[in-house]
Amino acid sequence: MKYTILLVAAATMAGLVGLIAPAPGHADGEPAPYVTEIPQGYRDWKWISSAHEAGNLNSLGAVLGNDVAFNAFREGKLPYPDGTIIAALHYRNIPSEENNKIFGRVQSFVPGPPTNIQFMIKDSTKYAATGGWGFGHFQDGKPGDAAFMKSCFPCHEKTKATDLVFTHYAP
Ligand code: HEC
Repeated sequence: MKYTILLVAAATMAGLVGLIAPAPGHADGEPAPYVTEIPQGYRDWKWISSAHEAGNLNSLGAVLGNDVAFNAFREGKLPYPDGTIIAALHYRNIPSEENNKIFGRVQSFVPGPPTNIQFMIKDSTKYAATGGWGFGHFQDGKPGDAAFMKSCFPCHEKTKATDLVFTHYAP
């Protein structure tokens, strides 16, 4: 009996400490960690889906995944396991003059100049402060700054049911 009470007290204390302790990367207002190096070999990864964004962005994107990501997407495995890396390659969406000459009208759009590459890396320990995902954004090979990188998690958090990932596997 005495031990039970002690155990409950100890567990309560541990719980309180857990609540009070700041989330990793958030101590003293320190920014949450994000991805600052481009993962190697991403251009050889498998295609998961594509996305076109109209409006000012006018972008054409390809979403690729490493093997861990690809298998999780295909099997509908949630949450995504540690080691998952998703790459979103973005290009300007431009009409293809070459193709449109053949069609006789503007109907073919292709990737123009690259605009940016974004990554999501699953590491539930390192990136615990941002839902287990490390976000990366690279323009001309350079990572986005901390202020810019703050925007990723709050928006991706809106798709909690799919572990912060918007893209669906295109069969
Ligand atoms: C305003 C909301 C919003 C913000 C901010 C945002 N994203 Fe996204 N992101 C999306 C949506 C919606 C998609 C899926 C549609 C698409 O790809 O265009 C997406 C797709 C992605 C993907 C492909 C995987 C997936 O979740 O579908 C990656 C990788 C990604 N974003 C990284 C980032 C990074 C890095 C940042 C911060 C620099 C960021 N995003 C900021 C909404 C957002």
